[in-house]
Amino acid sequence: MTLKEQPKIELHLHLEGAAPPAFIRGLAAEKREDISGIFDEGGGYAWRDFRHFLRVYEAATSVLRSPEDYRRLTLAVLEESAAHGVIYSETFLSPDFCGGRDVTAWRDYLAAIEDAAAEAEAKMGITLRAIITPIRHFGPEKSRDVAICAAETAGRFVTGFGIAGDEMICEPKDFAWAFDCAREAGLGLTAHAGEWRGPQHIRDTLAALAPSRIGHGVRAIEDLALVDELAERGTVLEVCPGSNISLGIYRDWRKHPIGQLYDRGVKVTVSTDDPPFFHTTMTREWDRLADAFDWDQGVFDTLNRTALDAAFCDRDTKEKLA
Ligand code: ADE
Ligand code: ZN
Repeated sequence: MTLKEQPKIELHLHLEGAAPPAFIRGLAAEKREDISGIFDEGGGYAWRDFRHFLRVYEAATSVLRSPEDYRRLTLAVLEESAAHGVIYSETFLSPDFCGGRDVTAWRDYLAAIEDAAAEAEAKMGITLRAIITPIRHFGPEKSRDVAICAAETAGRFVTGFGIAGDEMICEPKDFAWAFDCAREAGLGLTAHAGEWRGPQHIRDTLAALAPSRIGHGVRAIEDLALVDELAERGTVLEVCPGSNISLGIYRDWRKHPIGQLYDRGVKVTVSTDDPPFFHTTMTREWDRLADAFDWDQGVFDTLNRTALDAAFCDRDTKEKLA
C-alpha cells in the first residue's frame, strides 16, 4: 500500500481553510463577486504572514453564504481528504461564518454539512465530526453565542468545542464561560495555543479552559518542565508541522519540535490545519516526517492510535474505525 493510500486519522482541519481555491473561485464567479486579489498567479491563495492569512481566509469564506454552499464545500473537502487516505476527520466549524451565530440559521447550515458528510461516508468511506469554534479575534462576547449554538446542537455529529483565530488577542480566561457551557453540554474540548505564544500561554489555557487537547502546542518545547507535564497529564497535541513551517514558525522539517515531543512521551498527532493555504496534504505531512525523523510505519501506527483514542466521537464509531 502506498503512503497516500494508508488509512489516516486527522483531528485538526478548518473546513473553510481546507476549501480548494478552484472551488472558492468558482463560487465567487457564480455570485459575480470579485475576490481575485486573494489568489496568486498560479491560482492558489496568496498571503504574506499570519495576520494576512487570516484576512485572506475570511475573504475566501465571504462567498460561502448559504447551507447549500457549505454542503458543496464539505463534499469538495472530504473528497480531497479521502484521496489521501483519511478515514476519519474532525473539522472546525464556526457559527460566526455559518449563519452569523443565529441558532436557527446555524441548524440549517449544520444540517447541510451533516448531509454532505453522510454522502461522503457512503461514497468515499470517510467519517466526519464537527468541533464548533469561536474565533478569538471576534471577541469573548461572540464566543458565548457560539457556545450556545454548540450546546444546542451537541450530539452524534457535533462532538467538540474549540477556539481558533489570532492567539495574541484576549486571554484564555476570557473564553472560560464558553468552554464551561460546552463542557456542560458534553462536548470534547480543544484550544489553539502555543502556536504564536509561548509555554505560559499553554499553561494559562490548561488552567482556564481545561481542554483534553491542544491545537498546535508546539512551543511547549521552550519549557521542558511543561513538556513533561503534558506527557504526564496525557494532553494530546494536534500538531500541524506543514502549517507551522509554511507560516514561518520553524525554518524546516528537521527543526520542527514534533520529533522531540514524541521522543519525550507527549501524545502527538498530525494534521494539515488549512491544507491548500499551506500547500500540504496528509500524505505530504507523513512523507516529510518520515524523511526528517526517520519515522517508520510503527510510529505512524502510534500516531493514528493516539488520534483515534483522543477523537471526540462515540465509542461505536471508534470501534468501527479501529
Ligand atoms: N484558523 C485557521 N487556521 C488557523 C491557525 N493556524 N491558527 C489559528 N487560527 C486558525
Ligand atoms: Zn488550526
